[in-house]
Amino acid sequence: MSETTHLSGKRIIVTGAARGIGASAARALAAAGATVTGLDITEPSSGSPEVPGGGRLTRDLCDVSSRDSVTQAFGRAAESMGGLDVLIHVAGVQRYTPAEAITDDEWDLVVGINARGTMITNQAAFVHLKDRGGRIINFASAAGALGLRGCAHYAASKGAVLAWTRTIAQEWGQYGISANAIAPGMWTPMYDATRAGMTPEQLAAHDKGMAAMIPLGGKLGDPDTDMAPVLVFLASDASRFITGQTLAVDGGLMMVR
Ligand SMILES: NC(=O)c1ccc[n+]([C@@H]2O[C@H](COP(=O)([O-])OP(=O)(O)OC[C@H]3O[C@@H](n4cnc5c(N)ncnc54)[C@H](O)[C@@H]3O)[C@@H](O)[C@H]2O)c1
Repeated sequence: MSETTHLSGKRIIVTGAARGIGASAARALAAAGATVTGLDITEPSSGSPEVPGGGRLTRDLCDVSSRDSVTQAFGRAAESMGGLDVLIHVAGVQRYTPAEAITDDEWDLVVGINARGTMITNQAAFVHLKDRGGRIINFASAAGALGLRGCAHYAASKGAVLAWTRTIAQEWGQYGISANAIAPGMWTPMYDATRAGMTPEQLAAHDKGMAAMIPLGGKLGDPDTDMAPVLVFLASDASRFITGQTLAVDGGLMMVR
């Protein structure tokens, strides 16, 4: 690994680190030499795989939609790591309900975790980053830019993440803080849940549509090989001059056509 992408000395918080993209990212960042605290509202379901080498990965519980929980967990993480350099905010939830049937409670749940959780975690990171600079990487979605049938609240919450990220990139650049958003297309437990809700006919049509829409491979990517290396780059000094961007890591799903 080159000098610029080796993460030795970087102190990183990853939210949503119990499974999916967050779990993969936390492992890869630690393997690249970083000291990582993985936060999630639940414990990892499949044990805690050892980090292959390099850095350190510890875990803590945190509900990203609760300001108290975030303030306390970020405080513990920064204290145990000796500071903070990077936040990778992955945690999020998705629900499928037709727009006309979304209840206030379901709106509050999805927007509370995805949008308010982004504000709260980013503010908590800012406290630790403002004196030395650093990086914030938020997980948005193509849904936030394009819309997503059956997920209007999810799409709205991710649109908020995109707009929030661009705005803090403008406001916090003066502190040496960069902020970028990811629009991923990865095969994870969240996507398994989406597929589980489809009839065999819907699944066949979905897979056909994905094959047509994703130029690279025709299906969603693998978090370990397709997403984690990008996060290692974004957490590194090599990405220092990139801010306010939405990076689609999705095999070409979201490209302008
Ligand atoms: N997988 C994709 O292709 C895809 C596409 C677009 C956007 N995203 C976004 O990327 C992120 C990761 O997606 P994934 O597919 O790995 O999802 P996932 O459901 O597999 O994992 C999400 C993690 O977030 C955690 N989480 C949920 N609510 C939380 C809370 N209140 N506090 C702390 N942790 C909480 C969950 O416990 C889980 O470990 C999400 O924000 C998702 O919306 C994913």
